[in-house]
Amino acid sequence: MREKNRLHPALTVLTSLAMGFLPLLTLALVGCAPEGPAVDTAQVAQAMASGDVQAGGQLYLSLCASCHGPDGLGASGPGLALVPEMSDAELWDIIVNGVEDMPAYGYLTDQEVADLIAWMRANV
Ligand code: HEC
Repeated sequence: MREKNRLHPALTVLTSLAMGFLPLLTLALVGCAPEGPAVDTAQVAQAMASGDVQAGGQLYLSLCASCHGPDGLGASGPGLALVPEMSDAELWDIIVNGVEDMPAYGYLTDQEVADLIAWMRANV
């Protein structure tokens, strides 16, 4: 009888702990889902309409060329050979959110990201 009463509070605590972790676990799993709503394709398409190749070239030289080379052929980082096979939204996602060793440029305006993509479309 005493044994049982002593166990009971401990079990209650354990159970509530487990229940508390369940939502957290779910959130963590959802957060790891490979395909998130990374970028809004409509927003990308709208911004791309005013993408400026020349402005993008200046940005590219100051921000990207050290790694990807002035012509996109690679320098301290890889070349941009995959760019022609990628969509505007995919490029947008990489620039804004980064990937692996590629830093994120989330501080750029939509116009600046569109300019960069326009430059890559014209030069890579
Ligand atoms: C510090 C080095 C570095 C800088 C600066 C950098 N990148 Fe990258 N970038 C990388 C690396 C490394 C990868 C490969 C990422 C991977 O492992 O998938 C990459 C991948 C990419 C890709 C994917 C295409 C491909 O062929 O892999 C694009 C597009 C790209 N970078 C664009 C840019 C742009 C635009 C800028 C400037 C705003 C920039 N990068 C600045 C290092 C850099």
